[in-house]
Amino acid sequence: MRQAPQGGSGAYTRDHVLIVSHSLNLPIPLEPDPEQMRALGTDALDFVIDFIDQRATAPASDLDHALPDLGSTTDVLDYLKHAAAKAVDPAGPGYLAYIPGGGLYTAAIADFITAAVNRYTTVAALAPAFVAIEQQTIRWICGLFDFPQEAQGVLTTGGSMANFSAIVTARDAQHAANDGGTIYVDDQAHHSITKAAALAGFPAQAVRILPSDKNLRIDLDALETAVTSDPHPFLIVASAGTTNTGAVDDLEAVAGIAKAHGLWFHVDAAYGGFFQLTDRGRQRLTGINRADSITLDPHKGMFLPYGTGCLIVRDGAALRRAHTAGAAYMQDLSDVGLPNYAEYSPELSRAFRGLRIWLPLQLHGAEAFTNALDEKLDLARHAYDRLTQSEDFDLPWQPELSVVAFHHPDGTRILEEVNGSRRVFLSSTTIRDRHFLRLAILSHRTHQDRVDEAVDLLEKAAQAT
Ligand SMILES: Cc1ncc(COP(=O)(O)O)c(C=O)c1O
Repeated sequence: MRQAPQGGSGAYTRDHVLIVSHSLNLPIPLEPDPEQMRALGTDALDFVIDFIDQRATAPASDLDHALPDLGSTTDVLDYLKHAAAKAVDPAGPGYLAYIPGGGLYTAAIADFITAAVNRYTTVAALAPAFVAIEQQTIRWICGLFDFPQEAQGVLTTGGSMANFSAIVTARDAQHAANDGGTIYVDDQAHHSITKAAALAGFPAQAVRILPSDKNLRIDLDALETAVTSDPHPFLIVASAGTTNTGAVDDLEAVAGIAKAHGLWFHVDAAYGGFFQLTDRGRQRLTGINRADSITLDPHKGMFLPYGTGCLIVRDGAALRRAHTAGAAYMQDLSDVGLPNYAEYSPELSRAFRGLRIWLPLQLHGAEAFTNALDEKLDLARHAYDRLTQSEDFDLPWQPELSVVAFHHPDGTRILEEVNGSRRVFLSSTTIRDRHFLRLAILSHRTHQDRVDEAVDLLEKAAQAT
């Protein structure tokens, strides 16, 4: 552990970099003076820059549950460095498991400002200009899907909560009942749908899980037949990028069935939604703009730190009706012509989530996201081509977005060996009783060198069979 002078400025070297420490003795007051704020802020900034540059190369130490007894701000930051190293790095270039996360530096800066300023953005009158910033980001997202002016959205903690609010909104708009109303999904839908239905009070049999077709898309004939013979269907949930393989349902056709039967059409685009920024993604998601509601996860497709999902609803008033409850102690709040997010969400007090999307969009420009997502589509295609050529693996599905799924009879061992390299981290799934390895490529930090390394490692492990 580095040694730094206590209680003042000092210099130390680490990895040949001269770093100035402003270590403060602990405890520091709840309201530090400007000097203390600057000292801690400067060291925290160095910590973060260092961390992003070196991506968790510090050795892991054991952490127990007791609050540690640390003597200085330097000790605290060292402790955090070890804690961060004692984890899989879901935002690193080699993370190709589950659905990768992001962790944009500019979003972290936004969070810092958000937390320090701490404005109350749930009720518009209390911080109208900040609410306008959040509203701009929501409108920008609505615009990506050609949603009309009366659409409204809400930033959530993630995709699961967005799916929850979608189900609650659909139930309300369709006058559906917990005892009788039916929700349709297929066997590739994310489990947050069944979980959300249960949390919303629906019994297990209210969620009808239909088979997917050979391309892992919702089987349209099965869907049409099922809703036609059901006395109380009210909601169809389609996927714009499944977690297993990135499969995109035939959204145009599902929209047609939903409209023909007067049902709510929700699209879970938590993983795939922001590919809408790219030409190829827009093509693959054709029909998504006919949805009544869409779940998106900026903490996936926009590379944000965890804690930002989004639900957009074509009829914003429906979202509001399903989530509004008044109280006498709210009576003084005036209408400032902006949404009170409390009326559109299960939450009252909540973080100002808008800035962590708005600031990166301002600082990088939307095109930076388009280009990064385009690169992920190219990388998935590249990985698919290489794995197909190697002939060690069976790849039944071409990647529709940026997930590549492949089978090998010795997949469990291969996964262990490849992950043992600590250069890449993959995960597996089971589809129709068959084990599949997956490469899920979504981090803005993943480029061709790391994808090639992953394929090299896979080939090497397969050939060792
Ligand atoms: C398709 C899909 N829907 C929903 C979710 C749930 O999102 P969250 O983890 O943000 O709650 C995920 C998460 O991976 C997902 O891939």
